[in-house]
Amino acid sequence: MNIIITGASRGFGKAIAELFAANGYDLYLTSRNEVTLYKAMEDLTTRFPEIKIKARAFDLSKREQVNSLGNWLLGLDISIDILVNNAGSFEPGSVYNEPEGTMENMMNTNFYSAYHLTRALVPAMMEQRSGHIFNMCSIASFQAYKNGGAYSISKFALAGFSKNLREEMKPFAVKVTTVYSGAAYTDSWAGSGIEAQRFMKAEDVAQMIFAASQLSARACVEDIILRPQLGDI
Ligand SMILES: NC(=O)c1ccc[n+]([C@@H]2O[C@H](COP(=O)([O-])OP(=O)(O)OC[C@H]3O[C@@H](n4cnc5c(N)ncnc54)[C@H](OP(=O)(O)O)[C@@H]3O)[C@@H](O)[C@H]2O)c1
Repeated sequence: MNIIITGASRGFGKAIAELFAANGYDLYLTSRNEVTLYKAMEDLTTRFPEIKIKARAFDLSKREQVNSLGNWLLGLDISIDILVNNAGSFEPGSVYNEPEGTMENMMNTNFYSAYHLTRALVPAMMEQRSGHIFNMCSIASFQAYKNGGAYSISKFALAGFSKNLREEMKPFAVKVTTVYSGAAYTDSWAGSGIEAQRFMKAEDVAQMIFAASQLSARACVEDIILRPQLGDI
């Protein structure tokens, strides 16, 4: 079985890669920075020598690079069993005064990346009549908060996309899961001054995704909502 993970060099993406690797999946990984991506691949290859791991860097905020990623994956001629649209970044701000271009950056990185990559790959899943797409949303996909600004709006868009896709894919036996994660301790939060213990672990999110991927073809986990035990930060 094959899994494609965007934003796989660190954080959630790396934790998801580790868990699926430990369960025998072949990994197809991407993120923006080639050095961190290859470092992650090297680490995974050492720990899981029995699986196949391929990785290539693309900046998914750029449409033409999303196309290149889609072409690379389709050219490998593998069955596309699981796609995790996880790549994303956070720029804090408020609608009324965030710098010009923030909305466009957030939409390109957090929404259009997943939209265009899915459109490139989903016809193959529809044809094989199997597959599972996970879209990494956020509590900020349904709840506005101070300093959320363009990030939160882009994650609302991703959730809207994910819900529509779920409806569309029902007759094609392709599953779609929207993951609404609360705060988990990754590089996104490093330097926030809040102690790591207050957060969920990236591995918690990975475990929920893995569990949802293991159900029979007759069931689809539509939504996963996770929060730190003490609630939102
Ligand atoms: N951590 C949380 O509390 C939290 C909560 C809710 C939702 N999320 C969402 O979960 C996802 C992962 O978050 P994380 O905390 O694991 O983040 P992270 O540690 O900052 O890692 C982000 C990953 O996305 C990649 N990425 C960022 N911009 C990219 C671009 N333009 N093109 C390609 N790859 C790009 C990064 O690649 P490079 O290493 O190359 O930069 C990295 O692999 C994000 O979508 C985030 O919004 C996180």
